[in-house]
Amino acid sequence: MSKKYASISANIGDTKRPTVVGADRHPGWNALRRIASRITTPLLPDDYLRLANPLWSARELRGRVLEVRRETADSATLVIKPGWGFHFDYRPGQYIGIGLLVDGRWRWRSYSLTSAPTGGRTIAITVKAMPEGFLSSHLVDGVVPGTVVRLAAPQGEFVLPEPAPATVLFLTAGSGITPVMSMLRTLARRGGITDVVHLHSAPTPADMLFAEELAALAREHPGYRLLFRATRSQGRLDLSGPAMLDAEVPDWRGRQVWACGPAALLGDAERIWADAGIADHLHIERFTIARTAVASGGGTVTFAASGKSVVTDAATTLLEAGESAGVQMPFGCRMGICQSCVVELVAGQVRDLRSGVDHEPGTRIQTCVSTAAGDCELDV
Ligand SMILES: Cc1cc2nc3c(=O)[nH]c(=O)nc-3n(C[C@H](O)[C@H](O)[C@H](O)COP(=O)(O)OP(=O)(O)OC[C@H]3O[C@@H](n4cnc5c(N)ncnc54)[C@H](O)[C@@H]3O)c2cc1C
Ligand code: FES
Repeated sequence: MSKKYASISANIGDTKRPTVVGADRHPGWNALRRIASRITTPLLPDDYLRLANPLWSARELRGRVLEVRRETADSATLVIKPGWGFHFDYRPGQYIGIGLLVDGRWRWRSYSLTSAPTGGRTIAITVKAMPEGFLSSHLVDGVVPGTVVRLAAPQGEFVLPEPAPATVLFLTAGSGITPVMSMLRTLARRGGITDVVHLHSAPTPADMLFAEELAALAREHPGYRLLFRATRSQGRLDLSGPAMLDAEVPDWRGRQVWACGPAALLGDAERIWADAGIADHLHIERFTIARTAVASGGGTVTFAASGKSVVTDAATTLLEAGESAGVQMPFGCRMGICQSCVVELVAGQVRDLRSGVDHEPGTRIQTCVSTAAGDCELDV
């Protein structure tokens, strides 16, 4: 291990909220549900299911928080037992949507699964509390075991192929380690760690998620080489050019790379791999979008299909505005990545928060990264 890297072992101290979940995969159940709804009218079968067990719902995915395990001073792992309809055949690296009832409103965010899809009946996410963030602080400090949450099915393309490539480079920083943790756990359980180099950084060793587990992996798997950098004392990974990579991972050009971390790190990585002519080796997951547009506008947003409307400000996304009005908005990543939230703009103008571009009626817009630039109407 390079001297520039700390030795870990020494330092360890509403995708659309499904209206009928799994209907496509369970046609038989759906038919039963239709028959049941005739028998049980005026109450819906869902009402009876919920009386029997709050995790049973034919309309939406739910889960119960079994455990909230503190990982570092500002992060925690939530172990969740999903209810009926959840499919455990997710791919390592995928994320789920989690909805939490706070102050009478369902708030949704995306979190990478940190668990491995290897037969268990629980899933795990690991959340870092953002200082000014709303839901992450609540998930880390406010959620107690027993809490029932809503779930959106696992999705995302930031996944390891099956079989995994023979040589891999993981490039992670901070909470960006979460999807890679699911990959590592999966590889370890399948005996698939052949040649993995993992460049990871966090402010201090105490801030490092999964530090003990990663150190154990490094001890037990000769094919796993962990290079940890404590940025507060050692400075950030220098990705201004390929020199650091050449020194630490001389064969980096031949490796498939999965990278997740702050936007600056990912931007640097994109440049380096593109300059080397191997941009296709680099797989990236972003947790945040760059909001560059000037916040101005707002207005009354009308949701044509549901007949609802809401007055919103220039900073609230159309997705959040719809949810606050009780509209079942389709969504996935909530970060402008997956396109699940696309709907048609019927009238008025909306602004893309990333580019500042105003969209005209007749175009299809991503509600998770758009705000009202005046009164507007959406086809949802
Ligand atoms: C695919 C994916 C996977 C993810 N996986 C993980 C994971 O495994 N672990 C994890 O901890 N996080 C993960 N995230 C991030 C997570 O979804 C949340 O974004 C994060 O927890 C912050 O949520 P919050 O409610 O606390 O913050 P929010 O209240 O949503 O705010 C987020 C940040 O943006 C700022 N902000 C909010 N609104 C505005 C605005 N209008 N203009 C400018 N800035 C604003 C806030 O100050 C805050 O710093 C993932 C995200 C994606 C897209
Ligand atoms: S929810 Fe993924 S792009 Fe909008």
